[in-house]
Amino acid sequence: MSLSESFDTIVSTRRAVRKFHETDYNPDAVTQSLRRAQLAPSSSNMQLWEFYRVSKSEDLAELSTICMGQNTTATAKEAIVVVARPDLWRKRADANQENVKRVHGDRPGFRGQSALAYYGNLVPKLYNNDFLGIRGLIKKIYVTYVGWKKPMVREVTGGDIRIVVHKSAALAAQTFMLSMVAEGHDTCPVEGFDSVRLKRFLNLPAKAEVNMVITCGKRIPEGIYGERFRVPASEVVFNK
Ligand SMILES: Cc1cc2nc3c(=O)[nH]c(=O)nc-3n(C[C@H](O)[C@H](O)[C@H](O)COP(=O)(O)O)c2cc1C
Repeated sequence: MSLSESFDTIVSTRRAVRKFHETDYNPDAVTQSLRRAQLAPSSSNMQLWEFYRVSKSEDLAELSTICMGQNTTATAKEAIVVVARPDLWRKRADANQENVKRVHGDRPGFRGQSALAYYGNLVPKLYNNDFLGIRGLIKKIYVTYVGWKKPMVREVTGGDIRIVVHKSAALAAQTFMLSMVAEGHDTCPVEGFDSVRLKRFLNLPAKAEVNMVITCGKRIPEGIYGERFRVPASEVVFNK
């Protein structure tokens, strides 16, 4: 099978599974898939995500209650909670800077210096936002002004950065779900949960945000709720 055929099989096999097999399950599939999820691209390579494995039966029961007792959480053999951590930006920027120093050595050339400046100056300007949003407002006025004359990134407020971080977390989540199929397992992405209770359950700090819960297991036939439906490509794919 060609790579493209394999990928087609993986993408078409992945379904949102709402009922899992009671016993057939291998947690190694999750271990492998979490390893692959961490290879997903992330904005500025900041990797502002975390993955919490929930596998004890009493924890799964509590998680299911937090997810309003949905079938997929009630029957899951394990669940991954994907968490966005915009608050860890400084730590991750430092890690990237250390990596640049490791790669480029004591005398970084132009590319190394640009990367150091990127993580040392630009990233803090973007990610360092105050509670009241005053810095974000000033940045917005600035980019609007500069943007009159030349192309400019407009997403600079604290709210914009939350979206940036969630986007990257969701890419890791999708990488995880496709990998689970490659490992002969199934998943369902879940955003129907009580985020306040879920953060308390995982002991997360105030600024962490749950991106999604992913239930894991192996499907049983009743776990697929009908044929796949997608709106026609003509409604979503456009040629400019
Ligand atoms: C971000 C996100 C949140 C979702 N939340 C839930 C959920 O809370 N419960 C659920 O049963 N399915 C949930 N789904 C699954 C979707 O309903 C499902 O992906 C969609 O109907 C398409 O079906 P398919 O994944 O089998 O192709 C969610 C999907 C995504 C991407």
